[in-house]
Formats: sequence, C-alpha cells, structure tokens
Amino acid sequence: MTEQYYHPIAIGRLLLPGNLFLAPLAGFTDQAFRSLCVDEGAALTFSEMVSAEGLFRKSKKTEALLARADNEKVFAVQLFMNSTETSLRALPAIIRHKPDIIDINCGCPVPKVIKTGAGSALLKSPEIIFRIVQALSNETDIPITVKIRSGWNSDSINFHETADAACQGGAAMITLHARTRSQGYSGVANLEHIKALKQASSVPVFGSGDLFTSEAALCMLSETEADGVMFARGAIGNPFIFSQTRHLLLTGNIPPETPKKLRVSAFLNHLDKSIAVKNENAACREMRKHAGSYIKGFPGASQIRRKIVRASSREDYEAILSEWVELHPQT
Ligand SMILES: Cc1cc2nc3c(=O)[nH]c(=O)nc-3n(C[C@H](O)[C@H](O)[C@H](O)COP(=O)(O)O)c2cc1C
Repeated sequence: MTEQYYHPIAIGRLLLPGNLFLAPLAGFTDQAFRSLCVDEGAALTFSEMVSAEGLFRKSKKTEALLARADNEKVFAVQLFMNSTETSLRALPAIIRHKPDIIDINCGCPVPKVIKTGAGSALLKSPEIIFRIVQALSNETDIPITVKIRSGWNSDSINFHETADAACQGGAAMITLHARTRSQGYSGVANLEHIKALKQASSVPVFGSGDLFTSEAALCMLSETEADGVMFARGAIGNPFIFSQTRHLLLTGNIPPETPKKLRVSAFLNHLDKSIAVKNENAACREMRKHAGSYIKGFPGASQIRRKIVRASSREDYEAILSEWVELHPQT
C-alpha cells in the first residue's frame, strides 16, 4: 500500500494537486527546466534562489529569474536575504511577478552568501528567521515558506528551533534538507530529522536530500511520514522522476527505465524551451551542463559527453544525440 503517500496538499490558501515538488537549484531550475518538470507532474516548482538585494536594486538579471513558464499554474519564488529590511524592500518587485509562494532560503552553504548573513548563516539566528517571515506575512497574503537545513554542523543541530521560529512568524510550510551546512551536499541526509520535524510541526513538512530515484522518495515518505518530497539533483537530466514516482506511489510497481530515445526527445524539448527564452547560442552553451545528466549511465555516454562540450547549435545537438541513439538502439 503506497498510494497513501501521493496526495493533494494545502499550503496556506493554496491547494496543490500533488506532493512531489521541484526544489530550487541555482543554475538549473530556470523557466525551461521547470516547465519540463511540470509536464512530468511536478505539483510545485521553485525558482533558483534570487537575491532580495538584487531585486531592490532592480537588477535585470535578477528580475529575469522571476518569470514563470506558460504551464506553471503555480510557482514559488525563493529569495535569499539577511534581514527584514532587505526582504521588505524587495517585496514590491516580487509582488509584481505574482508568485504563488515566497520561499526563504536558510540553507545555502556558499561562502559568498553566508558572508552576508544570508542562506545557512540564518540557521545561527532563528530570531532573524522569525522576523523576516513575520514581516513578510504582515505585508502580503502570499504564503511564506522556509527551507532550512538540519543545523550549521553536527554540534548544532537546531532544525526544531529554526522551524519553530519560522512557524511563529507565520510560515505555511517548512522544507528540511536533512544535512548540516558543514556537510554541503555530501554525506547522507538524516531521515530521522525529517521524521522528528514532521511529528512536531503544525504546518506541512517537505523532505529534501538524496532523492535520486523514485524508490528513495517512497522510502523518505514512508520512513518520515513527511507531507511530500522535493526532488533536486535527482531531477537534473531526469524530469521523468516525477511521473515515475507518481507511478510507483500509485501502483506500488517500480517504473521501467526511461529509454534513450525518450531521453533524447526530452533533452531537445528542454533545449527548444530554453531557446525560446534565450537566443540559440546562449541556450546551447547553457544546455551543456544538463546534457551529461540526460545520458548518464548509458553505454557510450562518455564519448558523447566529449562531443557535447563543443555543441553550439540545435543542429549540433541533434546530430550528436541521433548518432548516439543509432549506436545503441536497444537501450
Ligand atoms: C547545484 C545546486 C544548486 C542548489 N541551489 C539551491 C537554491 O538555490 N536554493 C535552495 O534552497 N537549495 C538549493 N540547493 C539545494 C537543493 O534544493 C536540495 O535541498 C539539495 O540538493 C538536497 O537534495 P538532493 O540531495 O536530493 O540533491 C542546491 C543544490 C545544488 C546541488
């Protein structure tokens, strides 16, 4: 019985049809990629983290991150900031883009961000988390959600405290990436932390960490009783993880591996969506970082990767990938 783990979820005033979300991923979750994940069944997608300071300063590059794809009926914008003042100053620019959720980043481990007091630096100051969420909640009826980590390091596991601070401020959902800041993206995510937070929380709790397969998502949902999961690295080059997980949860059967041909057509669809937003040259350069993940693990992938680093047009990609499919038609 696994279908109990797939269900609609209410976040504040929003009712979402499913509980499989796409996490914010700086450098990856742009409009084109999010659109593909929505097609595969992501019930909510997050922008990559956006600087509240950049929005206030009217940076065009920053504002571009707030645009939603045509098929994104609901869309969350994730912000990083270090204070209430910065978040309030950015609010008018955010509201203009009509996001359905505003998410606060309390997990980014990058030194450049932490140095400013933002990202996971906020884990050290739950009272600032409280003040930011409260200030935003007082100014807008857009649900405010918060994404935290387990703690700064293994000696300062404080997810209960930071989640409490967020909820006291009015947060409508907490996502817990169950690693510490010191772990970065390595080591194992601690499912016990997600389970403990879910038991204690009055708002929906989403789990993040090590979700590379649909089986891992089922394991997280069943072991923690979390309200839902957020796919991150596991969705890169594999937007099918949403439909596969839905299939697994609803039928109890492990879905078959996505065939190469389907991967190639998804990649080209991704590229086309990207070209529609940027110009062909910029889109093709940017897609190099996604391409390797679409072909990962298949025979011949490393030779193809060497060719892809030189692809600079849609035609190049199509030729390289068709050759790859023809070389190993059985997979
Ligand atoms: C390249 C990369 C970029 C990320 N960018 C963000 C971000 O902008 N905001 C955020 O809250 N988390 C970010 N994360 C963290 C992910 O959302 C997620 O919590 C983390 O990768 C754990 O999930 P996973 O182990 O399944 O990948 C990023 C992670 C990676 C690897």
